[in-house]
Amino acid sequence: MRTKIVAGNWKMNCNLSETKLLLEGLAGKVEANENQKVIVAPPFTNLHYAFECLKDSPIEVAAQNINENESGAHTGEISAKMLKGVGATYVIIGHSERRAIYKETDATLAAKTNQAIKENFKVMFCVGEELESRKAETHFEVVKSQLEKGLFQLSELEMKNVVIAYEPVWAIGTGETASPEQAQEMHAYIRKLLANKYNAETAENTSILYGGSVKPNNAKEIFGKADVDGGLIGGASLKAEDFLAIVNSL
Ligand code: PGA
Repeated sequence: MRTKIVAGNWKMNCNLSETKLLLEGLAGKVEANENQKVIVAPPFTNLHYAFECLKDSPIEVAAQNINENESGAHTGEISAKMLKGVGATYVIIGHSERRAIYKETDATLAAKTNQAIKENFKVMFCVGEELESRKAETHFEVVKSQLEKGLFQLSELEMKNVVIAYEPVWAIGTGETASPEQAQEMHAYIRKLLANKYNAETAENTSILYGGSVKPNNAKEIFGKADVDGGLIGGASLKAEDFLAIVNSL
């Protein structure tokens, strides 16, 4: 059975005291469940603090990015080994903001993914088309290419440590969500790609999350679709009450 996951991507929000408040609102309110995972991704500076705060909670901690190199002269960057030491278990790779604003290419994302897997992280690999592509009906091709160039270099065994997040760019932070049917259609397509590239078992076991304006009032309907295994939540993850309501929609 696939693991259901709700992950909160805090992006560049929350200083230390805000982190403390938000985590106090979450810790103790999420119960351990072997079929379900709750993850938070605070900024780098608060990762270790979050890890310490969540020690007695089943909530896991993710980093929002990683550098593709092992170490060395990369001023301002953070390596996988450093992240290991602060208690993160997941790394988000390929978020559309990294692709669009920081110009991360498919090749860079493949290198980041390899680096993360090498250091025994679980990878949350994001894909998703922009509005123009949805309008031009090239969204399936775009997502296929992102997966083939950034993720499918992994072996079948390595894929056991991967979660895919489908996040249509036009739905991120816009208040506009993909319809549950649009999400289902793309998730089923991604699962078919996994089956073709790897096998039926990998396709069946890989969790595929939806991201893009998931809120307490629409989570249940989206998560109710057969191939949607949870969500990657931006804005609504910054309010404990909303995030918990989304977790409870699983
Ligand atoms: P949003 O962000 O929920 O604010 O749309 C989702 C994301 O970027 O992961």
